[in-house]
Amino acid sequence: MRLAGILGWGYHVPDHVLTNHDLAQMVDTSDDWIIARTGIRERRIAATTEATSDLATRAAEMALAQAQIAPSDIDLIIVATVTPDMAFPSTACLVQSNIGAFNAAAFDLSAACSGFIYGLKLAQSLVATGAIDNCLLIGAETLSRIVDFMDRSTCVLFGDGAGAVVIGPSQQHTLQTIIVGADGSGGHILRQPAGGSRNPATQETVALRQHFIHMDGQEVFKFAVSKVPEAAEGLLAKIGLQVEDIDWFIPHQANKRIIDAVIKRLGLSPQQTIVNLHKYGNVSNASIPIALAEAAAAGVFQSGERILLAGFGGGLTWGTGLLQW
Ligand code: COA
Repeated sequence: MRLAGILGWGYHVPDHVLTNHDLAQMVDTSDDWIIARTGIRERRIAATTEATSDLATRAAEMALAQAQIAPSDIDLIIVATVTPDMAFPSTACLVQSNIGAFNAAAFDLSAACSGFIYGLKLAQSLVATGAIDNCLLIGAETLSRIVDFMDRSTCVLFGDGAGAVVIGPSQQHTLQTIIVGADGSGGHILRQPAGGSRNPATQETVALRQHFIHMDGQEVFKFAVSKVPEAAEGLLAKIGLQVEDIDWFIPHQANKRIIDAVIKRLGLSPQQTIVNLHKYGNVSNASIPIALAEAAAAGVFQSGERILLAGFGGGLTWGTGLLQW
């Protein structure tokens, strides 16, 4: 088995900034409430001309340039997203065409906010076994298209953006153990009820605003603060590491209070935790790769350092993994 590593990284966020003050003009909320309950100050919103594949393409181009890999050398493109341009063709196929990666197979991965970690697991396995050489893994979202801007309990949380990594055989920035899981019995607490085969689009589903994100915030909160530490502790136990062996932590950027509770339980410090949600909100599948790419570009990680990743989301799903820089 070969080692699989991250060869390049990139991200792209739309130009338009939607602040908490802007949201307070739209729904009954305030900058103070949003900051105190979530830590979010602003988020990016895609232009009406932009779709998920456009953001994904920009992030992918940056990752490929950084990896110095030609699009023709990519064997597989995975786009982890809950906001594909459309059900089909897949957003990954649209990206393939945009970047000219015509030797690549391409598909979308649906595991809600944990999708990027699921994608890492898959890419690692395929590269390690020699089934493929280079995989372009992208987490990309235009969540503003499925957020109900009349619902203050959800519209303050989410934003748009994309992050990408190129994964291939490498002795550097290596993917170590990755564990993913799911509990479908909790699917109802975070979902987009209509628009699929269960509730196809009708005038009624539109009138009932069922094409938007519906969420039981408190239940999601409870799930996250128990499952993420449990999964991370399970990962460390499996590979015989202690929390002291971890240099950096990149959690899914959903809510600062969730992150604070998780690091407290794990015994990690705020100084070693990468947080960017004040700028972008929760970008679902894009949140971990954007945070990773931003920190890597800023030179935060030193060679050999261990980076713990942890995601969670609808499904319910979760995933945790270890990177060695
Ligand atoms: N502005 C002002 N008040 C708001 C508000 C907003 N944006 N959203 C909700 N409220 C109100 C509620 O209506 C409620 O009012 P009431 O007491 O009069 O009924 C009050 O604030 C408290 O609501 P509650 O839901 O208990 O707040 P909370 O502390 O649980 O915070 C979330 C709400 C959504 C921020 C929090 O539950 C959360 O972040 N959950 C996880 C969500 C998540 O991460 N989802 C994605 C996972 S991938």
